Amino acid sequence: MMTVIYGCILAISWFGAHFIVSGSLTTGNLTSLFSYVMSVLMSLMMLSMIFVMITMSAASGRRIAEVLNEVPDMSEPDQPEQTVADGSIDFNHVSFSYKHGSGEPTLEDIDLHIRPGETIGIIGGTGSGKSSLVGLVSRLYDVDSGSVCVGGKDVRSYDTETLRNQVAVVLQKNVLFSGTILDNLRWGKEDATEAECAEACQQACADEFIQRFPDGYHTWIEQGGSNVSGGQKQRLCIARALLKKPKILILDDSTSAVDTATGAKIRAAFSKKIPGTTKLIVAQRISSVQGADRILVLDGGKINGFDSHDNLLKINRIYREIYEAQTQSGGDFDQPAQEEKEGVQA
Ligand SMILES: Nc1ncnc2c1ncn2[C@@H]1O[C@H](COP(=O)(O)OP(=O)(O)OP(=O)(O)O)[C@@H](O)[C@H]1O
Ligand SMILES: [Mg+2]
Repeated sequence: MMTVIYGCILAISWFGAHFIVSGSLTTGNLTSLFSYVMSVLMSLMMLSMIFVMITMSAASGRRIAEVLNEVPDMSEPDQPEQTVADGSIDFNHVSFSYKHGSGEPTLEDIDLHIRPGETIGIIGGTGSGKSSLVGLVSRLYDVDSGSVCVGGKDVRSYDTETLRNQVAVVLQKNVLFSGTILDNLRWGKEDATEAECAEACQQACADEFIQRFPDGYHTWIEQGGSNVSGGQKQRLCIARALLKKPKILILDDSTSAVDTATGAKIRAAFSKKIPGTTKLIVAQRISSVQGADRILVLDGGKINGFDSHDNLLKINRIYREIYEAQTQSGGDFDQPAQEEKEGVQA
């Protein structure tokens, strides 16, 4: 298009100059000829741009249609259960992989029975399947074989919204939105009163730092929670989950950025304030799960041990190794390493 435009300009200049010299064209005629030709050419160029745009939008349209037409793997039952009886969780010989029927399963033959109100700690190396296991409880994915039951009924028989209202999950990666603290908390329960929000925050030990903000519960949170610390963000997310008063509460590594003392306070508040709620606590620190009723040790997607802290220490090699590694090196600021202590004394 540009070559044609420049070619025209050159040709008009060349022939126009000849006509002016021979006297058959005035300078004014040539100038108007220039402006007419240019507007015609510009319109042609716009037309060709439209063709380019149409091709581009057709490609984008195809992609949007692909997403809209995607059929979800998970189907709702015809007559869904509308109530969750209690907070019991049963894994009956569950196997699960992210790509159905391909390669190594992420979880293999998991058989677990958790009573309502129990506190279960889940520990294991990175990639051992902890997040995948807890994701199955709220039916983020469907199992390949076996079944997951909540309140005695298969999760696939529930209405998804009912199930997810009773199973509150604080994910490993949390999201806060721009808005006040109260707005953010009310994502958990739309019509929560300020008193309810404050109570949830007390249980999650978020109250103490919120009180220190000049605007308290009306403090503005920036997009993604960029103006609160990692640990504060985690506590707000726990409070948001608690607002629902769920029957099952899942914390996936949700106190990793909270100091050990506050973590212990949150757990103490849980056992005192919400004793009836089944709690699944995924953690990397033994100190976070030590007080749990039973602890599940996952290794490569399989159950390696499921017992109380004391019993596991005696019989489970992996658990003992993690425990020894963590207690010897200290790791937390309020529990300094042995060498450091000695160094200070020296
Ligand atoms: N969305 C996904 N799609 C495919 N594979 C996945 C997906 N999420 C996790 N995996 C795989 O499943 C395995 C278990 O992952 P999972 O997230 O359950 O581990 P984890 O125990 O929670 O680890 P971490 O302690 O790092 O959180 C990993 O090998 C991982 O590569
Ligand atoms: Mg995880």
